Amino acid sequence: MNPAERVAQLRQVIEDHNYRYHVLGDPIISDPEFDLLYRELVELEMLHPDLISSDSPTQRVGAEPQERFRKVAHRVPMLSLANAFDETELQAFYRRVTNQLEVEEIGLVTELKIDGVAVSLTYEDGRLHHGATRGNGLEGEDVTSNLRTIRSLPLRLRKGPYPSTAEIRGEIYFPLSGFERVNRQRSEEGAAPFANPRNAAAGALRQLDPAVTATRPLTFFAYSLGHTEGLEITSQGEVLQQLVRWGFPVNPHHRSHAHLPSVIEYCQSWEERRDTIDYEVDGVVVKVDRLDLQDRLGAVSREPRWAIAYKFASQVAATRLLEIRINVGRTGALNPYAILEPVKLGGVTIRTATLHNQEDIRKKDIRPGDRVLIKRAGDVIPQVVGPVDKDEEGRAAPYAYPGECPECGTPIVQDPDEALAYCRNSNCPAQRFESLKHFVSRAALDIRGLGPKTLRKLLELELVTGPADLYSLTAEQLSRLEGFKEKSIENLLAGIDGSRQQGFPRVLFGLGIRHVGESAAALLADEFREVGYLMQAPPERIMEIPGIGPEIARSVADYFEIEGNCEQVERLRAAGLQLMMAGGVRTTARALEGKTLVVTGTLSSHSRREMSELIVSNGGKVTSSVSSRTDFLVAGSNAGSKLRRARELEVPVLTEEEFLKLLQGEP
Ligand code: IVH
Repeated sequence: MNPAERVAQLRQVIEDHNYRYHVLGDPIISDPEFDLLYRELVELEMLHPDLISSDSPTQRVGAEPQERFRKVAHRVPMLSLANAFDETELQAFYRRVTNQLEVEEIGLVTELKIDGVAVSLTYEDGRLHHGATRGNGLEGEDVTSNLRTIRSLPLRLRKGPYPSTAEIRGEIYFPLSGFERVNRQRSEEGAAPFANPRNAAAGALRQLDPAVTATRPLTFFAYSLGHTEGLEITSQGEVLQQLVRWGFPVNPHHRSHAHLPSVIEYCQSWEERRDTIDYEVDGVVVKVDRLDLQDRLGAVSREPRWAIAYKFASQVAATRLLEIRINVGRTGALNPYAILEPVKLGGVTIRTATLHNQEDIRKKDIRPGDRVLIKRAGDVIPQVVGPVDKDEEGRAAPYAYPGECPECGTPIVQDPDEALAYCRNSNCPAQRFESLKHFVSRAALDIRGLGPKTLRKLLELELVTGPADLYSLTAEQLSRLEGFKEKSIENLLAGIDGSRQQGFPRVLFGLGIRHVGESAAALLADEFREVGYLMQAPPERIMEIPGIGPEIARSVADYFEIEGNCEQVERLRAAGLQLMMAGGVRTTARALEGKTLVVTGTLSSHSRREMSELIVSNGGKVTSSVSSRTDFLVAGSNAGSKLRRARELEVPVLTEEEFLKLLQGEP
């Protein structure tokens, strides 16, 4: 098979597995097997750049960041929907429709109303050409590079036939499980959590750097067609079937109804079950099934007469706010929250709710003792909406936000660009405690047996002030902790010792640098290989890494500007922690800039693939045959004709070791 054929075959196979995994939820190969196929494609495309095309699965990520989004006009306006808030309003809708069409009954389709962001996707000759947000309904923004990163979205329509232009519409959304994970991560990183899944989805879609979008677990449901020529389709039911054939994820909970009572039943039943699914729905969309009848009904003021949104009652409750408290996070951020009189909401008892920040409390004029409305958006942390009655008698005085850290008394700093106020005392006990908790956490150094209680005690007894101190703890010192006997001391010491084997990315994550979550830590470690290089890197250099934005870059540079932090890192190194990648150092000097290399023979320390990646990531190019333009041949054992050819042409030949030295800048 020639490279072009293999590339085409790999793309097909990879997209099939992608489809099985992300759309059908039914993978048939393991992740490592998938990675192998993917890497083979990456390598082939690296060797034959002329074979790269925009619909290759490798091109989902990696598009250049943009300055701003281009505007796109929608050929068919993207309408919004009129709302029905109860059964009577649904009946009124049904009456209007049947009256206008002069019929007794009419077939309807119901679909869940996904609470995400509406987009339009245009496929030309079956390939994704561009995608846009709804915008004002007439004109949206071109977010194609970001949409490509969404793996459930086909880059090519799967099964024909398809018209030369097909416009598919649907909803991009943030699954609740992913939303909670991302928010947990954000709060660990000291970033403000997203208010709700819809905001998170909208924000991710409007990132100028697609590498950032790619880190968010966005997905998609298709539900209608826009400007699409030459399709023989007569009903909404058939539209959904067609979308499935083309390979789009279509929400499985749609239903056809011959009359209104079953529509009402569907709406009510989903109103009760809305929290059983992994995405937020804010209602049900009821649509006239037949497309010709939809056309006859038409639209008024941007709302179709043939559809209506039945809106679920939002999940709110009223209760008494007992107290406002402030939690000081690892990064020193002050997070205000409310202690509530327990109240049931959507099946769970709520005792605390978030208050966002100082400005929010002031704007909404929330005071301790108020009766307040609280709201739950999906499975998210409940929020205080505001006081029920601002004129209630006997209210407390307006809440005075503390000017000092509630934990250490240091005056707080409020940056005008930031919502949260900060305690900037790095010796603040709350920050120390939270930092240590983070350092030992499962995703970081994963030291078992060091729970919050033990950590507090260690801090109190001043046995530990920072993470490095953990590594010099002795059995004698631990025996001073309540409940620590020989066995538990031994286990804890073994746990601490074992953490010396954790890889560099985990240690870097464990440092708790603001905005540096697990994935950023992995990217930084992979790029810089060794903590020393990272410590010296200016933010502009750090920002060059795809997936690392200016905020992270700034924060990393700021972190290492503080001498105490560098000292802590040096002490961790002295304690034997991994502050270098296992594969060793890759120079950042792009040692192979402009050089063309050929690799041949059997290699001992790297696979062929790793070798190609090393070359490309150091600025070089890999080709398959030796010519006068080849700068180096890297020859493993049993090298044959290529080695002979190199000698003939006097192309320098390197052993594997010499090659690795070259990467490190040695002549
Ligand atoms: S149909 C004219 N179907 O709801 C038809 N919309 O308020 C409008 N939405 O902008 C689109 N799920 O963002 C339709 N199954 C569904 C939907 C849905 C969510 C959103 C969409 C639209 C908004 C209308």
